[in-house]
Amino acid sequence: MDTKVQAVIDELQSRIESEQAQIDSGQGFDVNQLALAAGAETAGFLNLLIRTMGAKHIVEVGTSIGYTALWLGEAARATDGHVIGMEAIDSKYQQCVNNLTRAGLNDVVEVRFGDAKVIVRAIEGPIDLVFLDAWKDDYFDYFDILLPKLRVGGCIIADNIIYPASFQETMRRYQDYVRAHANVRSYLLSIGNGEEMSVRIK
Ligand SMILES: C[S@@+](CC[C@H](N)C(=O)[O-])C[C@H]1O[C@@H](n2cnc3c(N)ncnc32)[C@H](O)[C@@H]1O
Repeated sequence: MDTKVQAVIDELQSRIESEQAQIDSGQGFDVNQLALAAGAETAGFLNLLIRTMGAKHIVEVGTSIGYTALWLGEAARATDGHVIGMEAIDSKYQQCVNNLTRAGLNDVVEVRFGDAKVIVRAIEGPIDLVFLDAWKDDYFDYFDILLPKLRVGGCIIADNIIYPASFQETMRRYQDYVRAHANVRSYLLSIGNGEEMSVRIK
């Protein structure tokens, strides 16, 4: 891993661990201030998947302060690709831009500020890989909008299928929804918070 990228990842990893301790302690917290990052296992898997697929056109829905975007961007640089991320909270967007700039990845990852439900409509295909990590009720809409733009063999990875438990009912409905699609084959990966990997097969 590039040392500049690794240094920013390490810094954010410490923040994520202290945030998780805060969440686990049951203290109150403001969800709009937290990084809410997917974690190293999922981010590392996405990094390898981009390299394995040779993915060049990568989309992240829900970018927060840029933890996973750093891992996506580091792999996209190796494939000569690019990442489009998006974030609606201004303070998180600003932190994300700053983190990507310090890591030297601002030319590989473009973060768009605003509502992802609008932004995804303007993204052109063919997309190789999508990482869904915004608010969970919206996953259905993102899937519907982005699937037609995905190349055959491309995939949509959706985070938080298993954890936290409060998302499980919505996530089960999401799994049923994507698995019923004739053009998709989809499985749950027990990685990180649980990732539903949906591949466009036709
Ligand atoms: C779970 S966090 C993303 C974490 C990030 N993927 C990571 O692992 O480092 C979800 C983020 O999506 C953002 N978000 C949710 N709905 C959104 C929307 N409609 N438009 C833009 N951002 C949105 C939230 O503000 C939040 O920062």
